[in-house]
Amino acid sequence: MNGRPTFASVSVDAIARNYRLLRDRVGAQRGLFCVVKGDAYGHGAARVARRLALEGASRFAVAVAEEGIALRRAGVEGEILLLNYSDPADAGALRAYGLVPSLYDLRQARLFVEATRTFAEPLSVHLKLDTGMGRIGFPPRELGAVTDLLRRAPGLRVTGTFSNLACAEDLHSPRTARQVEVLEAGVATLSAAGVGPGIVHLANSAAILFHRGTWFDAVRPGLALYGVGPSSDAGKEDALTPALTLESRVMAVNEAAPGTPLGYGGRFVTQRPSTIAVLPIGYHDGFRRSFSGRARVLLRGKEVPVVGAVSMDLTLVDATDTGAQNRDRVVCLGIEGGNRVTAWDLARAAETIPYEILCGIGSRVPRVYPP
Ligand SMILES: Cc1ncc(COP(=O)(O)O)c(C=O)c1O
Repeated sequence: MNGRPTFASVSVDAIARNYRLLRDRVGAQRGLFCVVKGDAYGHGAARVARRLALEGASRFAVAVAEEGIALRRAGVEGEILLLNYSDPADAGALRAYGLVPSLYDLRQARLFVEATRTFAEPLSVHLKLDTGMGRIGFPPRELGAVTDLLRRAPGLRVTGTFSNLACAEDLHSPRTARQVEVLEAGVATLSAAGVGPGIVHLANSAAILFHRGTWFDAVRPGLALYGVGPSSDAGKEDALTPALTLESRVMAVNEAAPGTPLGYGGRFVTQRPSTIAVLPIGYHDGFRRSFSGRARVLLRGKEVPVVGAVSMDLTLVDATDTGAQNRDRVVCLGIEGGNRVTAWDLARAAETIPYEILCGIGSRVPRVYPP
């Protein structure tokens, strides 16, 4: 079966190049957690992690245990840190798979202490501190209770302490420096109480690119690994190589007289004799309804606008004067003929962030990995 000609082509070599760039920037002596949660931001976590391992990466971060287990089953070795939800009832499985959960609140931490009390080999954990994000993590006032608890936790070994920056992409926000101070104070409190903080880490992609003072012992890039800069301004991120191309092919070409309503709701009405190309991609594929009238794709290397309402499976583009033919290649995200549609372009069209564009590419879209 040939199937639908809509797919995402992922260059794992581009991701490896971005990894080398980031590693060189922070220095090889620093740890680097490759953030491959959310199926590596839609790029395919197993393929990405295996390629990064060839590049020397030995630390990975995912959100939850299921993602970590999938990586282990795909043969990924090294440290796998769980950044978000971790259930104490899973402690045995976490140890069996060699996954490192984060402790982020007192109730959860107490249950982890109990669940691991009889473990012959302690379970490695990282402590998450809330330094100003206001989501999960121990606030400074709870660190006394945390250290009391951990001194009586024979089944746990703290191998890292981390936090999360709220405003790193904002070069001028005073909150980043404040979060650094709170983390430093938290680490000092842990050390003074005899709980070694282990490896300390804070920086995401934006902080690696913009805030040298956040690098501590290790960094945690996600977006930049995939070649997308954390801010919409051109800048340091220009050196990054976008890894994913989302492409399709024209499935029909229609001539429409002026005044022809197109698509659901007839929202778009042609103003001139128009050539409309139909693409087999829609919002189930992550090509959002909000792109209607706002995004562009590349057809024969030229930018053409999305017209009419994007539906679940189909999208219309105004291909007037392009010479569009059935089966022509269409780049929905990527580069062709010197033009480009970036994750930022699509994010702006949908009033969102590039993370959501990449993670939103649907499960129906095959990921292919050119050699
Ligand atoms: C805790 C944590 N660290 C690091 C990252 C990576 O962030 P970025 O993709 O901005 O580099 C994320 C992503 O959301 C995260 O949640």
